[in-house]
Amino acid sequence: MERQVKIAVMVSGGGTNLQALIDAEKSGIIKSGKIALVLSNNRNAYALERAKNADIETAVVIKKECGSQEAFEDAIKDIFEKKNIDLIVLAGFMSILSQDFTKTYENRIINVHPSLIPSFCGKGYYGLKVHEEALKKGVKVTGATVHFVNEIPDGGKIIMQKAVKVLDKDTPETLQKRVMKIAEWKILPASTELVSQKILKGEI
Ligand code: GRF
Repeated sequence: MERQVKIAVMVSGGGTNLQALIDAEKSGIIKSGKIALVLSNNRNAYALERAKNADIETAVVIKKECGSQEAFEDAIKDIFEKKNIDLIVLAGFMSILSQDFTKTYENRIINVHPSLIPSFCGKGYYGLKVHEEALKKGVKVTGATVHFVNEIPDGGKIIMQKAVKVLDKDTPETLQKRVMKIAEWKILPASTELVSQKILKGEI
């Protein structure tokens, strides 16, 4: 087997995007990378169960228990170094990472955001809030974006986007579900494969 990129997925919650990545690896959509680790900052994240069901190693690092942002990130870096992680995929990871961390892994961290960046993104735009604001504004099209992570929240280079129509009868909840199904669960695995290929080719 040719070399594969070693992927760590960082999660905080339900992990439906993690599930999409696991399924994509099984079906061969992701072939240039392998999920080697799932790391959560929340012990009760259902995403950890999904990882265990797929026989993927898990780790939990709790910021409060580390005492500071720096100690939290040092603990995470330590785990990644020991596992020789090449690529970090944020899949519903609900904690902001410092500039020091994002600089350490330049072009090696990607994130999925549930809007068409630069709309409805940046500090405070997460979860249902993104879709509430999209409906308030009355946009007719929204979607999801996968981007590289830098020191600006949702500000890194865009990798892929997919548009989703907003329906008159949409609530934040129905819109969130449709954006996940039509956009997030498709472009996160596709971007993971694309970025893994670029890493293997030495292009980034
Ligand atoms: C997704 O909407 C993702 O875009 C955002 O957080 C949510 C995570 O959902 N960053 P899940 O844990 O993958 O189900």
